Amino acid sequence: MNNFEYCVPTRVIFGRDTHKNIGELIAGYGFKKILVQFGGGSVKESGLLDQVEDSLKSHGIEYVLLGGVRPNPGLGLALEGINLCRKENIEFILAVGGGSVIDSAKCMADGVLNPDVDPWDYFMKKAVPDKALPHGNILTLSASGSETSLSCVITKEEEGLKRGFNSPTHRPLFAVLNPELTFTVNKFQTGCGTVDIMMHTLERYLGGPTKDTPLTDRIAEGLLTSVMEAGEKADKNPEDYEARATLMWAGSLSHDGLTGLGRDYLMQVHQLEHELSGLYPDIAHGAGLSALFCSWARYVCKDAPMRFAQLAVRVFNQEMDFENPVYTALKGIDRLEEYFKSLDMPVSLRELNSGITQEDFLLMADKCSSKGEKTLTGIHELGREDMIEIYRMAY
Ligand code: NZQ
Ligand code: ZN
Repeated sequence: MNNFEYCVPTRVIFGRDTHKNIGELIAGYGFKKILVQFGGGSVKESGLLDQVEDSLKSHGIEYVLLGGVRPNPGLGLALEGINLCRKENIEFILAVGGGSVIDSAKCMADGVLNPDVDPWDYFMKKAVPDKALPHGNILTLSASGSETSLSCVITKEEEGLKRGFNSPTHRPLFAVLNPELTFTVNKFQTGCGTVDIMMHTLERYLGGPTKDTPLTDRIAEGLLTSVMEAGEKADKNPEDYEARATLMWAGSLSHDGLTGLGRDYLMQVHQLEHELSGLYPDIAHGAGLSALFCSWARYVCKDAPMRFAQLAVRVFNQEMDFENPVYTALKGIDRLEEYFKSLDMPVSLRELNSGITQEDFLLMADKCSSKGEKTLTGIHELGREDMIEIYRMAY
């Protein structure tokens, strides 16, 4: 097991009706003027935004609204929000929505207190934010884990470049997690969320060569098994509270660091996917992962067959073939693919978007590898040619 530091300072407030106390919660921190960020309209349709506004008013908290965050959130709106926060002397940002809304809020939070830095420089690893406006969230979609994670992922629209970076400034002050708020999430987004939650754990589990992390392994396997069960139930009955609750809590745990403690990993499939939804902003992150993951797994599993076989045996109930662990590994990947299909998630790029071309593979691999100068470390170090091959296999 590697050395590690684990600090998740986000206060989690979990359960039915918890969002109704948002005014009291924020007043408790002493914030008097806040910005409320939301997405394309789901929070208006569900009545959640009205409830938030009522609660803020009844606790004397002044607020400014900023909606319009789109999936795969863009830098443009975040820059607008940064100016608005400065102009309005905002003390706190409340994100009400899914990962895109929360990430946009995080980007703004970094930008507001660092006026001398171009916020995109953080994403290009040219600068590091040392302070940020405090932010918190009411989560409406179980998927990204952004509600407690230290990541923030933003797209620079004009370059079609989607990039993320980690920073302690991205840990929200609080996350209000009411599974009932996810009852309205449609079948497709529920499937995307289930895949994304699984990926955050699978990429940690399969991402690096580290051995001897038995406890972390068992936590990861337990999370994966629970998420697969809950994902199936929520797919069939969107108002199954217990299933939605499992997905919501697993979403946070899957990406707050817990399921990778003591391990090396780089999340290669996430990097390959970010190129995809950067180029095609209409592609949902979870669907992109679903289309790529099994091809990636088949490409790299021969480099760590015992690791993949352990997953196949413990999570997908396959029998271990000690003579041929690669066979067991591949059977596990087949089961995972069947699971994605059972949720009607795409398992190829062709299904995802028939307009994707061979030229796109070269372009995405160039971006991901900085034109061949950078590799992605992992159980199989991926260079530009490997990336192209995985995109081709996934097509
Ligand atoms: O915009 P609205 O109208 O709110 O609709 C959204 C959006 O269309 C809808 N939705 C959200 N809650 C709903 C709802 N519809 C009905 N009822 C509700 N309760 O769902 C659609 C997708 O929302 P989005 O926020 O884009 O989804 P998700 O939470 O999957 O976030 C995806 C973004 O997070 C990034 C992804 O790359 C992508 O940009 N990620 C962020 C991470 C992080 N910061 O830690 C890690 C992840 O790996 C991921 O990369
Ligand atoms: Zn993800």
